[in-house]
Amino acid sequence: SLIRLPARDPLGDCVPSARPAAVIVLAAGEGTRMRSATPKVLHRLGGRTMLGHVLAAAEALDPEHLVVVVGHGRDEVAATLTGKARAVVQETQDGTGHAVEVALATLGELTGTVVVLPGDTPLITAATLQALVDRHEADGAATTLLSAVVDDATGYGRVVRDERGVRAVVEHKDADAATLEVREINTSVYAFEGAALRASLSELTTDNAQGELYLTDVVGLHREAGRPVGALVAPDADETLGCNDRAQLADLARKLRDRTNLAHLRAGVAILDPQTTWIDVDVVLEPDTTVERNTSLHGSTVVRRDAVVGPDTTLTDCEVGSGATVTRTQATGAVIGPRATVGPFSYLLPGTVLGEGAKVGAYVEVKASTIGAGSKVPHLSYVGDATIGERSNIGAGTIVVNYDGVAKHRTTVGDDVRVGSNNSLVAPVEVGDGAYTAAGSAITEDVPPGDLAVGRAQQRNIEGWVARKRPKKGKP
Ligand code: UD1
Ligand code: CA
Repeated sequence: SLIRLPARDPLGDCVPSARPAAVIVLAAGEGTRMRSATPKVLHRLGGRTMLGHVLAAAEALDPEHLVVVVGHGRDEVAATLTGKARAVVQETQDGTGHAVEVALATLGELTGTVVVLPGDTPLITAATLQALVDRHEADGAATTLLSAVVDDATGYGRVVRDERGVRAVVEHKDADAATLEVREINTSVYAFEGAALRASLSELTTDNAQGELYLTDVVGLHREAGRPVGALVAPDADETLGCNDRAQLADLARKLRDRTNLAHLRAGVAILDPQTTWIDVDVVLEPDTTVERNTSLHGSTVVRRDAVVGPDTTLTDCEVGSGATVTRTQATGAVIGPRATVGPFSYLLPGTVLGEGAKVGAYVEVKASTIGAGSKVPHLSYVGDATIGERSNIGAGTIVVNYDGVAKHRTTVGDDVRVGSNNSLVAPVEVGDGAYTAAGSAITEDVPPGDLAVGRAQQRNIEGWVARKRPKKGKP
């Protein structure tokens, strides 16, 4: 989704670069309405923080500088920054104009376009930001703001136009009755000409209802100075939605879910019930995969061709091989081989590796274990810290006893092994290739290849015991 002009056109001539000099992300506000110990911009949707989404869109513009203005929760927010993004501290939140001033002060001489956007508009796309920059540069404007037309403009700055175009942005609290009727709002996303921005910031005053330095006043100042000011109306107003409380966050998460699902559907993924399917933005689904209802795919999960996941499945950081089926399963950090089958009601923990065609069945938990190609753990088992070879079968109810109360130990099961039902494999222990173990065995000693291990008390039948001890019940 990286929308960039190619550096060169097909004839090899240079095309004008639309690379901004800087992107400034405003994220110093407190976000009290989230009622959370977590800074607002670090709340998550679609597998990323709000700020992470904004920065991903900003990074796609390949700006020379990427600055995040932090204040409340500054250390926590700054600690999440990666790549080019750099935190600049705004000690007191004296307004959006002040925030940009603080950021610019760290940037030195700037020639070119400066993009400013809030850290709490996670649905903004790189394509829209690039369209804003392109329009701004094509118009040679001093300011180009991204506006949106909404049904309820309450609380927003209104875009006031006259015959010459955009005249000013007037904040809700400063607006008269006529201005309050305007439904075109300022989204707080802008492209500025760097030098013009710097010059007008020094002219801002706190002469307004909130006693703050409003970035929005730059629009009017540029206009008064005779500099061209424009607005690009966002093609999709949803992209510009901000987030002030958890209800809005839930709404944005739903919109992001729908957008992600639609992209996968268009790319050839069968999502049977998009309303109950939640796929993080970094998840990769190959064409002809099927996602059944009530399924959540998180983190770096990858699902290969012809695999079927769900229903009722949650996968985090998993790889699902082609043609595999994963049904009613919870898994984290598992690699599921091609044509393997998992579920129903399976629980896979980090370090699980299932070979091609392997099976993990009902009520089976696997942790830090490799289960080789064609091997099966079909029913009611725990497999932890074990390596199981190929074509082996682990009987129903088998438990790998990996923990002695102090340390974890490993268990090795070879190829073509038949572990009987209801065994305990007491680690550290090794069962050799082709070996069998009797049902109900506690295997505490290594089993050589090809042997049958019987690790249980010999059964004895006490003849006539019931008739002697329970005479009334003992009639056979
Ligand atoms: C702002 C705009 C308004 C627009 C609205 C869109 C101004 C004066 N008004 O209003 O026209 O319709 O956004 O949502 O800009 N921030 C800082 N430091 C500060 C103040 C704010 O970093 O000193 C950050 C906030 O964390 C937030 C963003 O700037 O991410 C916007 O600030 P906010 O207080 O939400 O502005 P609004 O009053 O919503
Ligand atoms: Ca806001």
